[in-house]
Amino acid sequence: MRVAVVGSGPSGCYTAQSLVQQDPDVLVDVLDRLPCPYGLVRYGVAPDHEKIKSLQNNLRTVLEHERVRFLGGIEIGPGGVPAARLRELYHAVVYCVGAATDRHLGIPGEDLPGSWSATEFVSWYSAHPDSTADGFVIGARSAVVIGVGNVAVDVTRMLARGVTELSPTDMPDPALNALAASRVTEVRMVGRRGPSQARFTTKELRELGSLPDTEVTVSAAELALDPAYLDPSPLPAPQRRNVEVLRGWAAAEPRPVSRRISLRFFLRPVELLADGGRVGAVRFERTVPDGRGGVRGTGEFEEIEAQLVLRSVGYRGMPVEGLPFDAGSGTVPNVDGRVVRGGSAVPGEYVAGWIKRGPTGVIGTNRPDAKETVTSLLEDAPHARTQGSAR
Ligand SMILES: Cc1cc2nc3c(=O)[nH]c(=O)nc-3n(C[C@H](O)[C@H](O)[C@H](O)COP(=O)(O)OP(=O)(O)OC[C@H]3O[C@@H](n4cnc5c(N)ncnc54)[C@H](O)[C@@H]3O)c2cc1C
Ligand SMILES: NC(=O)c1ccc[n+]([C@@H]2O[C@H](COP(=O)([O-])OP(=O)(O)OC[C@H]3O[C@@H](n4cnc5c(N)ncnc54)[C@H](OP(=O)(O)O)[C@@H]3O)[C@@H](O)[C@H]2O)c1
Repeated sequence: MRVAVVGSGPSGCYTAQSLVQQDPDVLVDVLDRLPCPYGLVRYGVAPDHEKIKSLQNNLRTVLEHERVRFLGGIEIGPGGVPAARLRELYHAVVYCVGAATDRHLGIPGEDLPGSWSATEFVSWYSAHPDSTADGFVIGARSAVVIGVGNVAVDVTRMLARGVTELSPTDMPDPALNALAASRVTEVRMVGRRGPSQARFTTKELRELGSLPDTEVTVSAAELALDPAYLDPSPLPAPQRRNVEVLRGWAAAEPRPVSRRISLRFFLRPVELLADGGRVGAVRFERTVPDGRGGVRGTGEFEEIEAQLVLRSVGYRGMPVEGLPFDAGSGTVPNVDGRVVRGGSAVPGEYVAGWIKRGPTGVIGTNRPDAKETVTSLLEDAPHARTQGSAR
């Protein structure tokens, strides 16, 4: 049986690995539109997280397996190889194409010069071949990062890290030189809900507090708007640990430092305001908990100065040519990885990773996810072997 895996990020590599481990005869081609494999492990994981980036070595052993081929520079879809042609060439196709674009805020001023998606900023400092933008930090003294997930923490840290720490990494020279010349001394990371609902993980949060010559500030009064901050005991352990870290920062004495990171909560972005033809501030509405895990607006507003705004409000899957697509979740409808067409799961076409379950989860989450898809594929395999027209 010949299987095509489209996408060589973690989900594509784990799919290939699971296939060759479970089927002694299968031949797998892993195709990627980029010449370089590993998806977001190569082009998303922050350069200063060298240990996580080194997972590329584990993924490489998969691509070097004797029954696996990596074919880079091959895009499936319009302008590349039609999806229908893949179905002729292989008994089964597994789409592991990730969630390539960013979510939008849908507020006035979002597209002002100086306002960027975190995706654009990450692609720039990761030397993604699609990256065309630069000039992120030029003319900026203060930055606002909208969102309190792990990507928001990554981009905040990149803005606050000194060049001494970034130089030994694989960050490309243009980004390194621009960050070395950066005058950004104030970064504010802003969440629309409370500290107990932030999506960042404690390890990543703590790391902000260990950056040299940088102080992290939080206001105890703002944190206290969250009832779970006042009494964190009922919270699940990960959220409780986040709250404990924030409590420590709220109680700390100010220090003389060159850079400051402020974590703000219960502020919902409503507009980006222009100043001299580019973004100059973000207008937020104060929110309060609605008692159901969400928030409601209070009609009070606050403007935070920023010449650089990074919108880090999550990623989004894109439609894949020839496959059904759920625009609400940005995923391909599936049951255990089998693509669902016209209400029923069809053998022969599968999904794994972010395009299957949405843009959440760390690299390791994609391993069991890929395994589930491969289990479905191998259950269907007798059908695929007789029906398929792989040539
Ligand atoms: C900025 C960022 C930083 C992260 N940092 C960490 C971290 O430090 N630690 C951690 O555990 N997790 C991290 N994650 C999460 C982790 O990267 C994801 O869980 C994982 O990459 C998802 O894997 P995937 O294979 O579904 O998608 P991706 O990694 O996005 O891979 C998709 C692949 O498909 C290819 N592709 C897309 N369309 C086509 C097409 N039409 N034809 C051919 N090829 C195509 C792409 O080029 C890409 O190589 C991070 C995520 C982001 C966004
Ligand atoms: N080091 C690591 O392990 C690492 C690094 C990077 C990424 N990742 C993983 O990759 C995945 C994606 O991360 P992510 O940070 O992109 O997504 P995420 O975890 O979903 O966080 C998105 C953030 O954006 C906020 N948001 C969404 N819509 C908004 C709006 N309209 N206005 C204001 N805020 C809005 C969310 O707030 P609400 O909660 O209120 O919706 C949330 O704080 C996650 O699973 C993450 O853990 C891991």
